[in-house]
Amino acid sequence: MAPHTTLQAPATRKLAGYEFYREVLGSPKYVVAPMVDQSELAWRILSRRLGAQLIYTPMINAKMFSSPSSTRYRLSAFNLPNTEEGHPSLDRPLIVQFAANDPAQLLASARLVEDRCDAVDINLGCPQDIAKRGRYGAFLQDDWELIYQMINTLHTNLKIPVTAKFRIFPSIEKTVQYAQMLERAGAQILTCHGRVREQRGQNTGLASYAHIAAVKRAVRVPVLANGNILFHADIERCLAETGADGVMCAEGQLYNAALFVGEGSSPLSTILSHSPSTPAPTPIPAMHALSTAAHPPHTTLAQTYLSIVLHPTLKTKPPLSAVKGHMFKLLRPALGRPGMEDLRERTGRVGVGGGGGRSRGEGGGDGMWWAREFLDIVWEVEKRMEADASAALPAGHTIQTLTATDPATGLDILPHWLAQPYFRVAKEKKEVVEVEAEVLVVGEKDKGVTRSPLVLDGIKRAMVAHEAREPESVLVA
Ligand SMILES: Cc1cc2nc3c(=O)[nH]c(=O)nc-3n(C[C@H](O)[C@H](O)[C@H](O)COP(=O)(O)O)c2cc1C
Repeated sequence: MAPHTTLQAPATRKLAGYEFYREVLGSPKYVVAPMVDQSELAWRILSRRLGAQLIYTPMINAKMFSSPSSTRYRLSAFNLPNTEEGHPSLDRPLIVQFAANDPAQLLASARLVEDRCDAVDINLGCPQDIAKRGRYGAFLQDDWELIYQMINTLHTNLKIPVTAKFRIFPSIEKTVQYAQMLERAGAQILTCHGRVREQRGQNTGLASYAHIAAVKRAVRVPVLANGNILFHADIERCLAETGADGVMCAEGQLYNAALFVGEGSSPLSTILSHSPSTPAPTPIPAMHALSTAAHPPHTTLAQTYLSIVLHPTLKTKPPLSAVKGHMFKLLRPALGRPGMEDLRERTGRVGVGGGGGRSRGEGGGDGMWWAREFLDIVWEVEKRMEADASAALPAGHTIQTLTATDPATGLDILPHWLAQPYFRVAKEKKEVVEVEAEVLVVGEKDKGVTRSPLVLDGIKRAMVAHEAREPESVLVA
């Protein structure tokens, strides 16, 4: 049962609910999700340049972060001494997310970052085995008393607001009661991931917008909807169906960092050239001619990300694992293709036992030799992609004629030099789809057939098993 403790007034007045959402956060509609090893500072910088309006840090373990002896963990989770993470001119609006099951540890951790972010979020949604073992995330879903105490402790004692990200229950009624309990406890933004705890891995499936809509109707604080966003057009559809204030996106944004850039927006080169620290991407006629603002060449995104990682003034460098994860996801449309095995393997080998083209002694003296190795790989991918795009251009192809349809899902498969979502189909369908998709690659689509991403609706989309993660080793193997 939800506790009904009377709320104490916070020691100092802080903005709450919509006042906080509008005045401090600027009414964000496009939100990048908390992602372990993926929503790190360099990715956040790239994401903001590409339209993200609010970003969450990866989940931080409150028990470790609050322990003064975990110096290394602290520095890697949120680097306070470098002063870059959460800096007002570089990394805001920012919400720092914690995984916790102890109000005192959570408060101690939150206090360390309260001057460096706009709010602190509690992870109530992680369904992974590690969360089960550590008793946090979605495995707290049944202990409402504890959740109430954690939220209320921050609400009462912290200078900044507390927010919560949670998964739904199978029943809409219970989900609504749960959300109302979170609100009563003091959460000032609720992010509703429209999947139940068991929807993970091969069972991920679709998020329920009906649950999110019911939550939105039942609470007074802003609600962010999470789930099912693969293409830009999905965003408006999600907002219309759920009534939510904004969408939070994870995987779709990792595969296409330009997800929030609508088709009507400036081309990517214009957006990126606004930043003095990033050289405008080299114009590459064929690939850019056969691209769109929402689906730029993935090599351009990868190069821009690496230029942020390697920027001499950036002190808070991401770990190799994060950068490798981004490379595999961004470049997937290329690296997943036949004939790209060499670069796929080379990407996997970077930093492993001295593998890759560069050695530790080479380049820069900043210890980032492996990031330069990724850059070399991206240049090689770009050369091959440009050759493919050049071959398509004289034949008079357009994006439309080069866009195929995934036979199992009805989703668009864009030319393989463009950033785009990666969707997996349910296990039993997988073999058939992979074979058919192979036949449908570039140029095979019927000319004149135009479709919108709204084809995602209905039964075709229900086949999509949108896994939360895929180990990179799968791609390397
Ligand atoms: C690589 C990766 C890391 C994630 N890490 C976190 C995390 O640290 N905290 C969290 O609450 N959710 C985490 N998630 C879940 C996402 O925030 C999001 O709820 C989920 O992926 C559904 O959104 P999507 O359909 O847009 O991918 C992670 C997801 C991915 C793909």
